[in-house]
Amino acid sequence: MNHSTGEIFEAAKPRPAAGETRDVPGEPGAFFGIGVGPGPAGFLPVAALEALRRARVIFLPRARSAEQSVARQCLAGLDIPASKLREIEFEMDPDRTVLREHYSALAQDIAGELLAGHDVAYLTIGDPMTFSTYGYTLAALRECLPGATIRTFPGITSFAAAAAALGWPLGEGKERILVLPCPDDADSLRRDIETHDVVVLMKIGRRLPWVLGLLAEMGIAAQCALASRIGLPGEVLCASVSDFDGPPHTGYLSTMLIRRRAREQRHV
Ligand SMILES: C[S@@+](CC[C@H](N)C(=O)[O-])C[C@H]1O[C@@H](n2cnc3c(N)ncnc32)[C@H](O)[C@@H]1O
Repeated sequence: MNHSTGEIFEAAKPRPAAGETRDVPGEPGAFFGIGVGPGPAGFLPVAALEALRRARVIFLPRARSAEQSVARQCLAGLDIPASKLREIEFEMDPDRTVLREHYSALAQDIAGELLAGHDVAYLTIGDPMTFSTYGYTLAALRECLPGATIRTFPGITSFAAAAAALGWPLGEGKERILVLPCPDDADSLRRDIETHDVVVLMKIGRRLPWVLGLLAEMGIAAQCALASRIGLPGEVLCASVSDFDGPPHTGYLSTMLIRRRAREQRHV
């Protein structure tokens, strides 16, 4: 069952003080999907902060390869007791069966908490509905506990955060924007750039060196920007990648903003 934010918080009154929870005896808890960051802790809608404070348990995904959960870093400075946090290693196993089993087990954990009457939050980086494992968790929870009270709060996408940090307007007038996980070959990316005014390039990773080479070859590197690890230690903000001389690993947790024509030459 989905509710509007208004309904959820109407039911939550009076608002608990920071760090307090609001479990109602005998009633199942509510599930909150919340996007944090990317980067600074303050990048969180007020309504989502309220839900975070209300939650008895907060699940934080952590990539198996990462030492620390990025979502946890995005909470730094917020008055959320560490005792509520429960880190879960997330899987990006290409085997669908393995993925299904992983998310089904996670959904059962969440359902157990909800049935015990606890409100539960699940954190993602940026917007929960944009390239996020949240979609898998949501589907598994709906299957495991049909009728669960679920509320998803929109978050700040990494490309909105990048555009703001770089002072780089994303789309103006009738410009066509493509949001794209980086393809594996330069020819596809070239075609995507040639057919759009702006390309937001995500999931670049190890492909950064050839992406930079392609932009230079197309003569557009000067009007393209790179934002890496926004708001996190090691942040890189580069307004013009023709000046970029950082190491290749900068491509991880990075977003590029690519313009086919310089802004002053745009005609749509
Ligand atoms: C799994 S997706 C998550 C997208 C996220 N849900 C959003 O709303 O943008 C991971 C990609 O998001 C981008 N990203 C996430 N955090 C970032 C950050 N702090 N700085 C720059 N890009 C980031 C990168 O393109 C990364 O490859």
